[in-house]
Amino acid sequence: MINIPKGTKDVLPSESYKWQYTENKLRELARLYNAREIRTPVFEHTELFVRSIGDETDVVSKEMYTFEDKGGRSITLKPEGTAPVARSYIENSLESLSLPLKTYYIIPAFRYERPQAGRLREFHQFGVEVYGATSPYLDLDCISLAYNALVGLGLKNVKLRLNSIGCPECRKKYVEALRAYYADKLDDMCPTCRERYAKNTLRLLDCKVPACREIGKNTPVILDYLCDDCRAHHDKLCELLTAVGVPYEIDPGIVRGLDYYTRTVFEFVTEELGAQGTVCGGGRYDNLVSSLGGKPTGCVGFAVGLERIIMLMEKQGVNFCENVPDVFVMSQSPEYATDCIKITSELRNAGISADTEMTGRSLKAQFKYADKLRAKYAVVIGGNEISEEKVKIKKLSDGTEEECGLKALTARLKEIK
Ligand code: HAM
Repeated sequence: MINIPKGTKDVLPSESYKWQYTENKLRELARLYNAREIRTPVFEHTELFVRSIGDETDVVSKEMYTFEDKGGRSITLKPEGTAPVARSYIENSLESLSLPLKTYYIIPAFRYERPQAGRLREFHQFGVEVYGATSPYLDLDCISLAYNALVGLGLKNVKLRLNSIGCPECRKKYVEALRAYYADKLDDMCPTCRERYAKNTLRLLDCKVPACREIGKNTPVILDYLCDDCRAHHDKLCELLTAVGVPYEIDPGIVRGLDYYTRTVFEFVTEELGAQGTVCGGGRYDNLVSSLGGKPTGCVGFAVGLERIIMLMEKQGVNFCENVPDVFVMSQSPEYATDCIKITSELRNAGISADTEMTGRSLKAQFKYADKLRAKYAVVIGGNEISEEKVKIKKLSDGTEEECGLKALTARLKEIK
């Protein structure tokens, strides 16, 4: 037998309704916010991710699914959705559309990580990217979309953590202060931190090793190093979040694992998923488009991990509204199978979800099957029903029956389904 690759998952017919429910809700919310879907390929040129995400990041240095195609090009399965959208924005001159432009996507993403609950090698993201303005009102719009997505899906106790990592100018000063703080402490820190010290200093704040966390307890705080413009942007965003009632906590430890961010960074976290409690991450990235060869463009976005939010929804008992057949049309005996098919087609054409017996099973077996499908109603078709043009509609949850003319069946089921 050939097994599924490590770190990937099938979505089985018994659970796909949860994904459909979640995705439909997210698409509907995106529509309410005037965001339009953008679809980009599953793979891109490797260089796109190296230049956008940064070659010192874990994603680029360790986790990408990169291969050479038959034409000798280096190709990478997308580890996230932001860089591909930026590539598409530039390549298709989307700046010629009215700006700001709000886009969203639902994508598979690929990272070669150590799999565990809530961390996969193929996972899925719902992402939003807004292009064309540096105003904090767009940070607000984005964060409020993410917040309302989580609330709209019925999630509770998910907290918004907010920070600003400033522009490259204020960050330079902050990184110097951080290096000065850690300079004489490196010997007691983990090898990853020692490596990050020189090349990716901000990520020192991200280390989960208890000893490193202890050492980092009194690090300087980036918010104290913001220039006037970055400070004003951050303060305005905080004011706006309060004005629209989106609760948040300032967390100077949020630096994010991807290099393209400027100013606003945020995460939505839960304590109910153990180590993989970040269900959404995002921020502003005003330099990405220009660094990829486009015009300077203010951008802000986020991505929600679908596996993680579905796990949390399951944990919190959210009702995913499973689709069940409205009716199962049963055949008294196999000779009525064709009549059943005709009736079933008519019901389906009228928008009623219907199924019927196709394997010649006994009536008892058909009832068992309909119960398993959790069909709402059953209608049995036999000689009498055909000759008298009358049927009984049986409600399977309590066994109650009502009589109905065969010709009126569709209309009646439409009323009661
Ligand atoms: P990210 O923080 O790398 O950001 O990923 C966003 C979310 O995807 C995470 O919060 C998490 O829920 C989910 N996720 C990430 N890795 C995995 C994994 N291995 N298994 C399961 N879920 C995972 C980004 O990807 C940015 N592109 C977000 C963004 C959009 N920033 C601006 N615009």
